Amino acid sequence: MSFHQESILLSYRHSFHAGNFADIIKHIVQVEILEHLTKKDKPFTYIDTHSGAGLFNLNSEHARKLEEYAGGISKLEAQDWPELARYFEVIAEHNDGNAEGAYYPGSPLIAQDFLRGLDKAWLYELHPEDFQRLKHNIGHDRRVQVKHEDGFKGLLGLVPPPARRGLVLIDPSYEIKADYDQVFKVVNTAYKKFSTGTYAIWYPMVNRQQIDDLERNFVHSGIRDIQRFELGLAADSHGHGMTATGMIVINPPWGLMDKMSAVLPKLVDVLGESDEAFYKADVLVAE
Ligand SMILES: C[S@@+](CC[C@H](N)C(=O)[O-])C[C@H]1O[C@@H](n2cnc3c(N)ncnc32)[C@H](O)[C@@H]1O
Repeated sequence: MSFHQESILLSYRHSFHAGNFADIIKHIVQVEILEHLTKKDKPFTYIDTHSGAGLFNLNSEHARKLEEYAGGISKLEAQDWPELARYFEVIAEHNDGNAEGAYYPGSPLIAQDFLRGLDKAWLYELHPEDFQRLKHNIGHDRRVQVKHEDGFKGLLGLVPPPARRGLVLIDPSYEIKADYDQVFKVVNTAYKKFSTGTYAIWYPMVNRQQIDDLERNFVHSGIRDIQRFELGLAADSHGHGMTATGMIVINPPWGLMDKMSAVLPKLVDVLGESDEAFYKADVLVAE
């Protein structure tokens, strides 16, 4: 990686974006998968290749600068979404004693909520400050390893985990265009060693061609059982900002498609910013 690439990569701070519409679809899918994994007694492994700081104060200077949460989590009221009870419960746990509900948990703290005695989590974060925050936010937890290392490399070194079941969440910022290719290559390699794991890959829809290419790579990879969920607030803008966002899920748990097919139209109604708001919930590759 060149110095230029590294400085672009480390300029991204999730604290400016926490609780936005992309976090909502990402974390709903994450919660559904984790709920499913905890239904069986057998331990599971959670791997977060791009963890971020883990907990975000929506009243912070960063969050208030762009106020992306205002078009996201602030628009959802827990009582209107019984089907998302567990997702709202996790958020509420991180706002215990805080009536304003000013905290939004990131993927590592959401995962921590689901870990049982023998489950394990591996969290990777490259940004030095966010790594320190993440360590602090996770606290002392023997089940969790927090690594100041490249999550792509970390993942490849961990698979297959001894538990042989688990979730790999891949959530880069895609500020380096090479991330799109790297995501595919790393997942394809990891899958060959750990084909029973569930992989949830987040993507921003800024340029449709890039997403079409990413999906085509997966469709032609030989990997079976892939679903795709996408939420668009407006029509594709062809390079002018993130208008839609989605998740590609390999080995999705039973029930995920039904849940997302019920939730996504409601998210379109509540979060959509134009008549052209849309969703996709489809099977990219059958089982
Ligand atoms: C979109 S944010 C993660 C948000 C988090 N997954 C969540 O849902 O709360 C991406 C994070 O990945 C970090 N990062 C970028 N490249 C990385 C890499 N190769 N390995 C590990 N972390 C990386 C960035 O510093 C940033 O904090």
